[in-house]
Amino acid sequence: MGKVISICNQKGGVGKTTTTVSLGVGLVNQGYKVLLIDADPQGDLTTSLGWYQNDDMQHTLASLIGSVIQDKDYSIKEAILHHAEGMDVIPSNIDLADMETQLVTTMNREATVKRLIDSIKDEYDYILIDCMPSLGMITVNALTASDTVIIPVQAQFLPAKGMTSLLTTINKVNKHLNPNLEIEGVLITLADRRTNLSKQTANMIRSNFGEHIKVFDVEIPVAVKAAETSAHGASILKYDAKGTVAQAYQELAKEVGDDEWMGYGKA
Ligand SMILES: Nc1ncnc2c1ncn2[C@@H]1O[C@H](COP(=O)(O)OP(=O)(O)OP(=O)(O)O)[C@@H](O)[C@H]1O
Ligand SMILES: [Mg+2]
Repeated sequence: MGKVISICNQKGGVGKTTTTVSLGVGLVNQGYKVLLIDADPQGDLTTSLGWYQNDDMQHTLASLIGSVIQDKDYSIKEAILHHAEGMDVIPSNIDLADMETQLVTTMNREATVKRLIDSIKDEYDYILIDCMPSLGMITVNALTASDTVIIPVQAQFLPAKGMTSLLTTINKVNKHLNPNLEIEGVLITLADRRTNLSKQTANMIRSNFGEHIKVFDVEIPVAVKAAETSAHGASILKYDAKGTVAQAYQELAKEVGDDEWMGYGKA
C-alpha cells in the first residue's frame, strides 16, 4: 500500500510545488515508485516538469474527477504521464477550477479524489499531492485521500493566522472525513541563514510549533538555481544536483522515506 502525502499550505509561493517535485525525485533516487498528483488548476507542477501545453490535455485530474462525478467509465492509466526522472505524474490544468464548484453538489464530495487514488495506491510506494494555495474543496479532497501532510512554510514570515486556519482544516478533516490523517511535518523553505530575519523566523517556527508538530531538521535554502529549474522541465535534483537545495531535498527524502512505511514499499 502506497503512502499518500499532501504538500499543503494555503499561502502562495511557499515552495509546495518545488517540494512535491524534489521530494518525489529524492524518493525515486532511493528506489521507491512514486506518483505525483498536480492538484492545482495553475498546473505549475505539470508545466515545471516540461508539459507546457497542459491546457490542451484531455486526460487530467479534472477529467478523472469529472468522470467520477458523472458516474462515467474512466481509465486512470490514461491520465498518468511518465517523466524522464522516473516518477509518474497526473497532470492538471485550468479545468480543475470547474471541478471545485462541481464537487460542491456531488454526493460524498470530499472523498472523490480518495476514490481515484485508492484504485492505484497498490502500485506506488509514495503518492505526493501538490495542493493549490487555498483550502477549498479540491484541497479538502487531497487531505481526505492522504495519510499525512507536509506543510512548507517560508522562513521569512512567521505564519501566524494562516497556520491556524490550516491546522483547523486539518483537524476538521481528521475528525469528520479521515481519522488516519497525520501531520508528517513542517518544512522550513526559502531559508537564508545569512539574514537575521530568516534565522530568527526559522527559530521562532521551531519554538512555536515544534512542541506539538514535527518540524523537519533539514531546512530548504534559497538559491537562484532553484528558481530557474521550472523553465527546464527538470527537478532541481537534476538541474543542479550538487547544489545546496538539491542536497537539502535529498536529506528530506531520507527523513520521509526512512520510516515505518518503508516496510510496505520495499517488499
Ligand atoms: N529553494 C528555493 N530557492 C529559490 N527559489 C525557490 C526555491 N523554492 C522555490 N522557489 C521559487 O519560488 C517560487 C514559488 O515556489 P513554488 O511554486 O514551489 O511555491 P508554491 O507554494 O507551490 O506556490 P503556489 O502557492 O503558487 O502554488 C517559484 O518561482 C520557485 O521557482
Ligand atoms: Mg504550487
